[in-house]
Amino acid sequence: MRNFTMAQRGLDRDSYPMKLFEKAKVFGVWNPSEFDLAQDIQDWHTLTADEQRLIIHLTALFGAGEEAVTLDLLPLIHVIASEGRIEEEMFLTTFLWEEVKHTDFFDRFLREVAQFDGDRAAFHGIGYRKLIHEMLPSALGALNTDHSPTAQIRASVTYNMIVEGTLAETGYHAFYTILKGRNILPATVQAIQKLQQDESRHIAYGLYLLSRLLAANPKEWRTLEATMVQGLLHVNAIINDIFSQYKPMPFNLNITTFLMYALSQYQKRHHRLSQARKGKIQLDGE
Ligand SMILES: [Fe+2]
Ligand SMILES: [Fe+2]
Repeated sequence: MRNFTMAQRGLDRDSYPMKLFEKAKVFGVWNPSEFDLAQDIQDWHTLTADEQRLIIHLTALFGAGEEAVTLDLLPLIHVIASEGRIEEEMFLTTFLWEEVKHTDFFDRFLREVAQFDGDRAAFHGIGYRKLIHEMLPSALGALNTDHSPTAQIRASVTYNMIVEGTLAETGYHAFYTILKGRNILPATVQAIQKLQQDESRHIAYGLYLLSRLLAANPKEWRTLEATMVQGLLHVNAIINDIFSQYKPMPFNLNITTFLMYALSQYQKRHHRLSQARKGKIQLDGE
């Protein structure tokens, strides 16, 4: 007989994953197709060719990144489901749905606002390929054959702490600096705010998962730190790749500001994890 949670104890409604699931049912239901892009399209034509190219560059990287996290989440969902953690799996269904909506939005932007029909992959530099084409699918794909805590920690650190918690957060900062600085593309700004709100739940789940894994396997802290450092090097390479392609840099963006911003996001995640390691985690603050 199958051991259903619903047939036994029922759902643990006070658990942290259920709280995230409740939030996702309220905040994660926005529709990328509903944004009115008319003003954004008008604003687009006021930008110089280099300004347009940088925004296309960033949205091309974001779009492929959202697709990558959509594809690569499945092995983690499978591990969690196979361990019978129904509350976590319930939240992860919203997580996956949100990633496809993010993919949907960036595709819409590239088609309707930028009207870009060139090669989107041409923007994938060496650092991006190392992280998004190699490290991410390799860390998550390992879960297809290895459910060990080591493999789960590598997967969650790469996915939740580096790709979402460090790279994507730095990307949002770039969008806000550019778009709010000029007061342009209002619907895109709104969509990115929605998307970032979804991502804060994803990162919060990663923190929960890693805290749970570390509590049961304290020696795995070394795996966690090694993966964090490796990921940060790729994020730095991505920022360097982007800035190296523009002279002068559109919108007066400054590379040091972005390297420092990425480092501050990394340190924030690292600090929360070291608190978790000491059993002092406060999950609601993410
Ligand atoms: Fe996303
Ligand atoms: Fe995400």
